[in-house]
Amino acid sequence: MDMPSLTIGRVTSRLPIIQGGMAVRVSLAPLAGAVAREGGIGIIAGSGLTPDELRAEIRAARAEAAGGVLGVNIMVAVRNFAELVKAAIDEKIDLVIAGAGFSRDVFDWTREAGIPMVPIVGSARVAKLSEKFGAAAVVVEGNDAGGHLGTDLPVRELLPSILEAVSIPVIAAGNIISGSDIAGVLASGAAGVQMGTRFAATVESSASDAFKQMYLDATDEDIVLVDSPVGLPGRSLRSPLTERLAAGVEPRIERCIVCLKKCGKQFCIMDKLVKSQLGDVEDGLVFTGGGVARVHDIPTVRELMARLVAEYGAATEGGLA
Ligand SMILES: Cc1cc2nc3c(=O)[nH]c(=O)nc-3n(C[C@H](O)[C@H](O)[C@H](O)COP(=O)(O)O)c2cc1C
Repeated sequence: MDMPSLTIGRVTSRLPIIQGGMAVRVSLAPLAGAVAREGGIGIIAGSGLTPDELRAEIRAARAEAAGGVLGVNIMVAVRNFAELVKAAIDEKIDLVIAGAGFSRDVFDWTREAGIPMVPIVGSARVAKLSEKFGAAAVVVEGNDAGGHLGTDLPVRELLPSILEAVSIPVIAAGNIISGSDIAGVLASGAAGVQMGTRFAATVESSASDAFKQMYLDATDEDIVLVDSPVGLPGRSLRSPLTERLAAGVEPRIERCIVCLKKCGKQFCIMDKLVKSQLGDVEDGLVFTGGGVARVHDIPTVRELMARLVAEYGAATEGGLA
């Protein structure tokens, strides 16, 4: 079977694949533009950028995207959330995804601009609330996803309750690595998937080579949860940093740039994410999803999308989905 298209409000992508926004600076114009060009939805991570940097990334991604669908992901928890969303709206972004918190205001800003708003949710209650406020779709992230986690349940367990709670499209995220994984969640009723980990390990991802190599070397035993200053657990790869955090011996933050609305101050999340993106994976934080041990190569986005489509076709022809 061919993969179905995905419609979110007024926007339709040829493939039901959203490349998850990955901060800081992992999913920028090269990755998002390539995903959009290949028929998916490419998402630029805005958290950790200035509004001007975000504008520049959107323009650069547009130049790559060949008319494909581009969105931004901005964490509600970042202090310049409103400025970043407004910059993306000014640039006529196709859709806005927001996670790590809930903002009522963003529904008004996007509605006025006619831009679909897609919150990331981890419960039927928040999914329902999002629909009430005007969400065009919801991304349901399980505790098997990469980055900050808002639930204790894996996505495949969460999905039925969310599908029952809302009538807008539901996008599944967490431990989706292959075309056969996509077939599985679409057969359960999801309209599409959001994938982070698999896209972080592509040629176009702006993560450092050391970051990508950590993904290739990872086993299930290397995956840990850290208590992020954002106020949520974060799924990451074990490193000297995560060992220090677990032992409670990480030195105090030396310099604070006040990047979050509220910070737990266990460590500087911005500093540690920037470090890993630049290549210091010993003192940086490498976020990952639960499926990282199934990532064995660094393909181009074009190669990866062709592979996902072929695997999906094989899984659905074989009656596995
Ligand atoms: C390195 C990395 C960074 C991420 N950064 C963000 C982020 O800034 N905002 C967000 O909402 N989600 C973030 N995520 C979550 C992804 O957008 C996506 O939902 C998740 O990775 C899906 O799970 P998977 O990694 O198992 O595919 C991040 C994930 C990874 C792996």
